[in-house]
Amino acid sequence: MSVSSRPVLPKLSALTVDWPLRQEKLFPGIQPLIVEIGFGNGDYLLHLAETRPSCNFIGLEISSQSMAKAEAGIEKRGLPNARPIHCRAETALWHLLEPQSVREFHINYPDPWFKKRHGRRRLIQRGTVALLTSRLEVGGSLQLATDIRAYAEMAHDILSSAPGLQNEYDAPWLPEVSGRFTTKYEEKGFREGRRGHYFRYGRDEFPVAHPPVIKEFAMPHLLLQAQLSAAEIVARFEPMKRSVDGAHIAVLHAWLDEKRAAALFEVVVEEPSISQHTMIMLAPRAGDGEWIVKLTTIGHARSTLGMHRAVEAVGEWVADVGDGKVLARRVRG
Ligand SMILES: C[S@@+](CC[C@H](N)C(=O)[O-])C[C@H]1O[C@@H](n2cnc3c(N)ncnc32)[C@H](O)[C@@H]1O
Repeated sequence: MSVSSRPVLPKLSALTVDWPLRQEKLFPGIQPLIVEIGFGNGDYLLHLAETRPSCNFIGLEISSQSMAKAEAGIEKRGLPNARPIHCRAETALWHLLEPQSVREFHINYPDPWFKKRHGRRRLIQRGTVALLTSRLEVGGSLQLATDIRAYAEMAHDILSSAPGLQNEYDAPWLPEVSGRFTTKYEEKGFREGRRGHYFRYGRDEFPVAHPPVIKEFAMPHLLLQAQLSAAEIVARFEPMKRSVDGAHIAVLHAWLDEKRAAALFEVVVEEPSISQHTMIMLAPRAGDGEWIVKLTTIGHARSTLGMHRAVEAVGEWVADVGDGKVLARRVRG
């Protein structure tokens, strides 16, 4: 078996990179930043990175398979200026990318199952376009391709009325762009008789809102008193749901840890900018009947407002079921 001497690039995800993202930690140097959203097999991203070495490229993907392909391609070609991040575009726009930090966004064939009723999950919608515009540098561009006519019409509607964006073409979209690298999905569409609709909008100087990057808070915890053992608390657990401050919290299961002294609670926290699936721990403290509730490191939980509310929900439930009270809390007010 041969072992490569080339260092393996660390895998990146929304849960492991800095909020906001720091180019100097990902690349050999700071260069204009170009972001591809939904890179699929990664060929377009790698082509851009190879042909434009004076820019840094970030690819955003939600598919693990696509991530693995792009990571392998970058390793194989030895590209220092391309890094894929396992991350929803919306999460990157809220947590990773600062206002006016991106030179170009490239979006090829998003939302292939476009239906009007899927509006809430669609990438091109007014709120997301406003964020994309905020994250672009003045003079930067947003480039979009779709092969769905109704999607093109919807995108034209949104982009042509978006403050801060100017159509760089003389038509709502172009039917072809010479010299463009053809993506895998595009090629398949051509074979099946579909045609591309290509958009290119420039960021002008019109002032737009710049929602700041949402950063992490300090790690939350609750100190409480409860007159039950961990085993008794777990035995009384029932799944609970709570919606608070825009976060939907579901506490799904409770377990005893292997020493039977602490309890673990599995939680899913969905916020508009990020979804997280992790564990909250209830551990005994030195004092009689005193407990601490905090996030575990399992799953790289990020300390968002929703996570604070989840820790609070578990802590309050334990205090209540254990006939005790919350003694102190470090959570966002
Ligand atoms: C139809 S494919 C197109 C892939 C590639 N751009 C191409 O043209 O061959 C759409 C891609 O977008 C990814 N995707 C969908 N929604 C996303 C989101 N919110 N953020 C990041 N990637 C997304 C999917 O996993 C999929 O790989």
